[in-house]
Amino acid sequence: MGAAEGKALPGLLPLLLLAGAGLSAASLPAAPRFNVSLDAAPELRWLPVLRHYDLDLVRAAVAQVIGDRVPRWVHVLIGKVVLELERFLPQPFTGEIRGMCDFLNLSLADCLLVNLAYESSAFCTSIVAQDSRGHIYHGRNLDYPFGNILRKLTLDVQFLKNGQIAFTGTTFIGYVGLWTGQSPHKFTVSGDERDKGWWWENAIAALFRRHIPVSWLIRSTLNESENFEAAVARLAKTPLIADVYYIVGGTSPQEGVVITRNRDGPADIWPLDPLNGEWFRVETNYDHWKPAPRQDDRRTPAIKALNATGQANLSLEALFQVLSVVPVYNKLFPLAEFPEVELLS
Ligand SMILES: *[C@@H]1O[C@H](CO)[C@@H](O)[C@H](O)[C@H]1NC(C)=O
Ligand SMILES: *[C@@H]1O[C@H](CO)[C@@H](O)[C@H](O)[C@H]1NC(C)=O
Ligand SMILES: *[C@@H]1O[C@H](CO)[C@@H](O)[C@H](O)[C@H]1NC(C)=O
Ligand SMILES: *[C@@H]1O[C@H](CO)[C@@H](O)[C@H](O)[C@H]1NC(C)=O
Ligand SMILES: *[C@@H]1O[C@H](CO)[C@@H](O)[C@H](O)[C@H]1NC(C)=O
Repeated sequence: MGAAEGKALPGLLPLLLLAGAGLSAASLPAAPRFNVSLDAAPELRWLPVLRHYDLDLVRAAVAQVIGDRVPRWVHVLIGKVVLELERFLPQPFTGEIRGMCDFLNLSLADCLLVNLAYESSAFCTSIVAQDSRGHIYHGRNLDYPFGNILRKLTLDVQFLKNGQIAFTGTTFIGYVGLWTGQSPHKFTVSGDERDKGWWWENAIAALFRRHIPVSWLIRSTLNESENFEAAVARLAKTPLIADVYYIVGGTSPQEGVVITRNRDGPADIWPLDPLNGEWFRVETNYDHWKPAPRQDDRRTPAIKALNATGQANLSLEALFQVLSVVPVYNKLFPLAEFPEVELLS
């Protein structure tokens, strides 16, 4: 039993990313925006943000996510091995989780589990496209798998170095990874889940081999990679705890790609090919070279909508419209119980 089986259908939040054209962030919906200084110690850097939140609500969300998404045996196992596991996890992520956890008076195991649980539930659509003038656009839907509670905990974060914005991203308070982010004037990244089953078993084993969560790699890439090409290389090669699709946009013509990841490395690299009329790439949660399953084909409606828009008429508004027509997918509901598409603007 989970909240997703109750009344609340998950919402859908389209986000638009644009690294070029001098825009640092173009996420239309009005999630609150906070600064997080990377010059502060990992344990302390989120606390000024947490102070803006109702801590009881945050604790309730943690309990709900764990109750809904974490198998009982995983909860028990992580409770036993968390201190040992912590030594295999990279900084600053562990320090950030520990710092927030102490502040919230939650166990480290629960805070770590929440950070892992969302990794296994990101069903979404990402689109990267190039208009006729060579501008690159990148948009995504963000699915709320746990009902409405996460909606209240969504925030845009500006990560600062020396008081300057180093990169930005959209996340949930308490969640240190990013599924969506942008490095101004460099590149944008979004991640879509690639579910291959046995998620928890494989992920826990891989953590002990020093592989990292997919959302942590997005954040590290935004933090460290100097340009589109370096970002693509890092996202393609770094060992992960789970399969995933990474969608990356750049600032120059042809800088757009879908990377299909296995845990150990790239399974496929699928760049834009605008010179041959391939001016967009749509990625949902299935390998692009295989047909989308009939019971969850969000790919065809997105492609139809992009075809209808036309390359010459592509704009942020047009992409937002396209992402708004893509149906919501929810594993627990038959598609007949139709989705709400909400634009939080
Ligand atoms: C923190 O949790 C412990 C154990 O659950 C409890 O005894 C304590 O009162 C809590 N402290 C705060 C500040 O909530
Ligand atoms: C966040 O950081 C930016 C860049 O330094 C600054 O302009 C802005 O005022 C800061 N916002 C807040 C709320 O401190
Ligand atoms: C980003 O860079 C700073 C140093 O500039 C570092 O302290 C921080 O922990 C880095 N990592 C991430 C993932 O933000
Ligand atoms: C979109 O347009 C391309 C190029 O004209 C065409 O090959 C493709 O079948 C169209 N797809 C859909 C779903 O309309
Ligand atoms: C693009 O917009 C122009 C007008 O701005 C319109 O004439 C044209 O039909 C549009 N193209 C498509 C493919 O919708």
